[in-house]
Amino acid sequence: MEQHANNDTPNARVRADLEHLGFDAGAHLLVKLALGQVEVGQCIAVRGQAPGWQAQLASWCRAQGHAVLPAPDREPATGTGTASTNHANDTVLVRKGSAQAGRWRGAAHTGHSDPRDEHAVAAQALPAWGLAARGAAVEAGSPAFDFRLADKAQLWTDSAADLYAQAVAAQWSADRDIDWDDAPALPGAIEDAIVQIMTYMVENENAALIVPARFLGQLHPHYRELQAALAIQVADEARHIDVFTRRIRRHGREPALSTAGGQASLKSLLDEPDFSVAGFLLSVLGEGTFVNLLQFLQTEAPDPLTRQIARLAARDEARHVALGMSHLLYRLEREPDFRHRLARAVEQRHDALAGTAGLNEEVFDALILVAAGDPNPAAIARGAARVQQLMRDMAAGRYAKLIRLGFGRDEAGQLAALHTRNFM
Ligand SMILES: [Fe+2]
Ligand SMILES: [Fe+2]
Repeated sequence: MEQHANNDTPNARVRADLEHLGFDAGAHLLVKLALGQVEVGQCIAVRGQAPGWQAQLASWCRAQGHAVLPAPDREPATGTGTASTNHANDTVLVRKGSAQAGRWRGAAHTGHSDPRDEHAVAAQALPAWGLAARGAAVEAGSPAFDFRLADKAQLWTDSAADLYAQAVAAQWSADRDIDWDDAPALPGAIEDAIVQIMTYMVENENAALIVPARFLGQLHPHYRELQAALAIQVADEARHIDVFTRRIRRHGREPALSTAGGQASLKSLLDEPDFSVAGFLLSVLGEGTFVNLLQFLQTEAPDPLTRQIARLAARDEARHVALGMSHLLYRLEREPDFRHRLARAVEQRHDALAGTAGLNEEVFDALILVAAGDPNPAAIARGAARVQQLMRDMAAGRYAKLIRLGFGRDEAGQLAALHTRNFM
């Protein structure tokens, strides 16, 4: 193929020599590459020797919107798509058409791949963009996909890409990063308490896995940074469920008690259909509170194994909280009245759960025993004081996040106090 020429005459200097390659074996690629070197309206010369190649070229050109020109030394052919040959050298001229003239007529443009580009991420992702990579041209006639979450204002955060990158860098392995042998036998009542707390945590983690996983399936893939952040969050929760279960089994125990009140509290998270409200209840208030619980276990648990697990899980949870917070800040900046909806969601959830016992009494007692480290009166008094401090830390953490989301002090105080007694 020769390059760079004045191509708008029959003496086109960009040439594609197909030799014996047929269109059933990829000859169109050579034609396409040659056309890529000229402007719309200019010509290339195509030569070939495979049987029937001219008819195949004409048919391909018709489909792509390019014109095959009459050879200068013959009668003019009747329009687009008629292969014309110069018998002297078996050369056909092809005039490049615009993409709009061919198969890509009406193709949809879908933003840009780099999220930092001002027009990269669309305010509304269209159903027919479907599964295409963001930035791709999508052929007209592609099927429409029913992604319920396709409105940027209701789902986006500019921090999604960074939080995903942080999550990738901070992934840990239950086998590599935890010393499962650093688990001395504890007094039976204390081991039972740890097993009860882990049992409770597994059911909370199940909610924390399922809620983002459901939204992930409804999210338009155009918003790929958020898709990635949610996907790795789901993977984090799967790892938490694994390590908490392995801690339960470390000394041969089975999971302990699961209460109706705890399950009712978590069910209300699964039942919330709005992405932002669910993120507020689960990630900001619930996982925010859970970070306090994990930090408590990281310092108070009597065995190094439980402390290690709590430390690693707390790090992940802090990221989940950050994703939820950054989305809510994004939405509230554009829709300040949405704050009322969030407040109402906390109140409604509180009312709906008022008839339940809230936190599993066994979990509360187990926290005291774990902080005590030993079932004797002085240790239990110390453990109870630490659990009281934990409750104050949790409420203060919720209050601080509500203030950051722009709630007034009074309302933030009330809402922090109305949060479910189940912690999550
Ligand atoms: Fe988790
Ligand atoms: Fe989480």
